[in-house]
Amino acid sequence: MMETVHIFVKSSLPKYLRSLNVPKSFAGFANLSGEDWLNLCPLFFCTAVFVMAVYRIFLGGSRRKNKLPKVNQSLMKEDSKVVTQMDIEDIGDKIAFCRCWRSKKFPLCDGAHNRHNAESGDNVGPLLLRRAEGEK
Ligand code: FES
Repeated sequence: MMETVHIFVKSSLPKYLRSLNVPKSFAGFANLSGEDWLNLCPLFFCTAVFVMAVYRIFLGGSRRKNKLPKVNQSLMKEDSKVVTQMDIEDIGDKIAFCRCWRSKKFPLCDGAHNRHNAESGDNVGPLLLRRAEGEK
């Protein structure tokens, strides 16, 4: 295995690179023949693969953390976490809590989930809480 790598690095690669007709200016690319372009293809391909690999290694890792879409599109973005606290006594007999994160009255449902569902094909809806009959 190492013998093959050695031959490639010490002999084949230098021979290939010396055989390339690399112009001295960008304008010189216009004068290359079809055969010159064909000979340059492996070099361009390997360079592109190398650049993509470096790009993915150094930039892809930081992107990977945010691959999933955000649930919260716009509500209280200045806060590190959206937490809502309510007293049970204030809830009344019936209340609908938003679970789609699109309500203008968040955390209460204002029906915005209907538009979201129609536009996205999603099926989200509110959490409905109601007191049992006779309970207070
Ligand atoms: S508006 Fe979000 S669940 Fe109704």
